Amino acid sequence: MSFSKYQFFLLSFLNLYIMKHLVHGQNHTLIFSKDGNIRNCSCSSYVPSCCYSSANLMCNCKTIALPKNKTRLSYNSDLTIWFSDTNTLGRLLNFTFVHNLKLSLCGATTLPTEYLAIPGLRYLRVESETIQEQSLTITHCDVKDGLCPEDTSPPFHISYLDTSLFNGLPLLKSYSVENVSSMAEQFPNLPFSSWIFATNRSYIVTLIY
Ligand SMILES: *[C@@H]1O[C@H](CO)[C@@H](O)[C@H](O)[C@H]1NC(C)=O
Ligand SMILES: *[C@@H]1O[C@H](CO)[C@@H](O)[C@H](O)[C@H]1NC(C)=O
Ligand SMILES: *[C@@H]1O[C@H](CO)[C@@H](O)[C@H](O)[C@H]1NC(C)=O
Ligand SMILES: *[C@@H]1O[C@H](CO)[C@@H](O)[C@H](O)[C@H]1NC(C)=O
Ligand SMILES: *[C@@H]1O[C@H](CO)[C@@H](O)[C@H](O)[C@H]1NC(C)=O
Ligand SMILES: *[C@@H]1O[C@H](CO)[C@@H](O)[C@H](O)[C@H]1NC(C)=O
Repeated sequence: MSFSKYQFFLLSFLNLYIMKHLVHGQNHTLIFSKDGNIRNCSCSSYVPSCCYSSANLMCNCKTIALPKNKTRLSYNSDLTIWFSDTNTLGRLLNFTFVHNLKLSLCGATTLPTEYLAIPGLRYLRVESETIQEQSLTITHCDVKDGLCPEDTSPPFHISYLDTSLFNGLPLLKSYSVENVSSMAEQFPNLPFSSWIFATNRSYIVTLIY
């Protein structure tokens, strides 16, 4: 799918920030797969990406089953995922609500283009062996006070991340389309879930690539 055909719908710009230092003051959730096990950890300090033994030492980890395909989760805490294939990433994250997310691709793998749906995403960091950590802040009326019209319910925000961005694109990019009333009509190529789009609100759709 080419994004250019959606530029017609481009109604707002996204701000792009590079934040060099991010402090983990509070516990965050770290999930990774290693040797066929999925570990779900609560960490209170920074752990270098893909450093599995440090995570097991420094965090409070337990082995979990890979969520079933249709499981929809939601995270209040910051979430970090270390992954090495899109299938596992999809099972852990697809259609999961999370505000603050960090994704690290561990190992030198080339990923196909697949779309990962992330409702509620506000702050994203990505890194891999071939790309340095990059970050993206998504600002919309649902996340910035005072920008939404007061008498309407805030729009539902969903981001779609193209997994091939981990292959080393020079810069993380995104754009947003506001006032989307029909995903099926306006974005027929993007996966969506009737579970998530059962609301009667309009959507803001952000494409991250
Ligand atoms: C990981 O653990 C947290 C609680 O620490 C929980 O909220 C979350 O659902 C778990 N994730 C998975 C994929 O099991
Ligand atoms: C943070 O995690 C540690 C274990 O890693 C736990 O003992 C502590 O209670 C957690 N704190 C909060 C605020 O969740
Ligand atoms: C989960 O979905 C993938 C394709 O997205 C499929 O290959 C796999 O068989 C599914 N697994 C289960 C347990 O349904
Ligand atoms: C997320 O789910 C959609 C719909 O089931 C699927 O088309 C897509 O490939 C999944 N993305 C990943 C990264 O697994
Ligand atoms: C979205 O739609 C509302 C009413 O339908 C309109 O007032 C508003 O200007 C639209 N916003 C944009 C960015 O087009
Ligand atoms: C959904 O929106 C339509 C008009 O856009 C309205 O007539 C209907 O009452 C709304 N339904 C709910 C449950 O809000």
